[in-house]
Amino acid sequence: MLLLVAGCNEYEGIVLDEDFDIPRTEAFADTLSSYALYQGDLANLTPAEGVYEYELASALFTDYAAKQRLMKLPAGEQLTTSGDGIPVFPEGAILAKTFYYDDAIGDSETRRHIIETRLLVLKQGRWNVATYVWSDAQDEAFLLLDGKTTPVSWRTPEGAARRINYEIPSEVACVTCHQDNDVVSPIGPALRNLNRPGAGGVNQLTQLQTEGLLSAITPEDVTPVVDYTDTSESLEDRARAYLHGNCAHCHSPSAWDRPSREVVLDLSFGTPLDDTGILSNLKRVRNALTAGEMPYIGTTLVHDEGVQLVVEYLDTL
Ligand code: HEC
Ligand code: HEC
Repeated sequence: MLLLVAGCNEYEGIVLDEDFDIPRTEAFADTLSSYALYQGDLANLTPAEGVYEYELASALFTDYAAKQRLMKLPAGEQLTTSGDGIPVFPEGAILAKTFYYDDAIGDSETRRHIIETRLLVLKQGRWNVATYVWSDAQDEAFLLLDGKTTPVSWRTPEGAARRINYEIPSEVACVTCHQDNDVVSPIGPALRNLNRPGAGGVNQLTQLQTEGLLSAITPEDVTPVVDYTDTSESLEDRARAYLHGNCAHCHSPSAWDRPSREVVLDLSFGTPLDDTGILSNLKRVRNALTAGEMPYIGTTLVHDEGVQLVVEYLDTL
């Protein structure tokens, strides 16, 4: 097992800035159930009363794992915002993301296998990171801060068996992706990324306001990020949405500064093409993707469908 030395900012070749300290204002509980995010059987992942489940227009690929995303705000509190980016969260907010495979291959059958639930908890104005690893019995998940790999096998929709050593990230890995101007930050729930129908078919910004969880805004004023799997959208928008969801958390001006030493890219969805650095680095972007060198961390498999989409787009430039 890979060990993170306490107080050390290095893990598997990732080196954070020396003055970047990982917030520890939340004393993380040992067990996931302590956070009361679910009701009934934990393994059913049924959100508890008042916990909001959301989807993103453009999501991160993690070795074909399915994901559930939850938001829990303290009672009576709401998100406030100006603009279409990450809203301001109230103290005590919890964001949770659970990674699972629906067709995991067990001893004799395929079934859902939940691997980990990652938390972001806002305490004393700072976001804390931790992940909880689910037990084999799937009835509890336990705190893990130093990361590990775990073998996972599953059946693809075509029926083929796949096996990987799934990487559960360490807290250092968490904050390489989750940082914005050197401050630990959520990535997904920007208003432009939430501006889409939720599971119930209602626009999520409208739904959040109906439930009193979001201050007054006009959803129509928020330009949505495109869903890259939606083939009715243009190739350009789909490819840019993919790069946004899978690369921009490291390749944008406010991200971890390491990449910018080599090649300056801003792969956020809203950045005009001329300012992204894509045009001057066409070959590098293509090679980084097709060789599986990028994303830098967070996956063990090359995302064939995603790479194909971006390469098809790069060919038009
Ligand atoms: C490879 C980059 C990467 C790593 C490593 C990573 N995350 Fe994330 N995480 C993302 C991205 C991108 C999103 C938003 C997109 C999505 O959810 O599909 C996200 C979403 C989340 C969310 C939902 C709220 C949000 O910010 O969108 C939580 C909670 C979360 N991550 C926690 C963690 C924790 C805790 C760790 C470490 C144990 C971790 N993440 C490691 C990139 C990463
Ligand atoms: C976890 C952070 C992270 C993520 C996510 C990430 N990158 Fe990178 N990227 C880096 C770092 C760090 C470097 C510098 C490479 C090095 O030092 O080895 C880099 C370098 C690059 C380069 C320059 C390679 C060269 O030839 O010098 C390209 C192009 C690139 N990334 C594209 C992407 C694309 C496209 C994605 C999304 C699929 C992506 N990156 C996702 C961190 C990241």
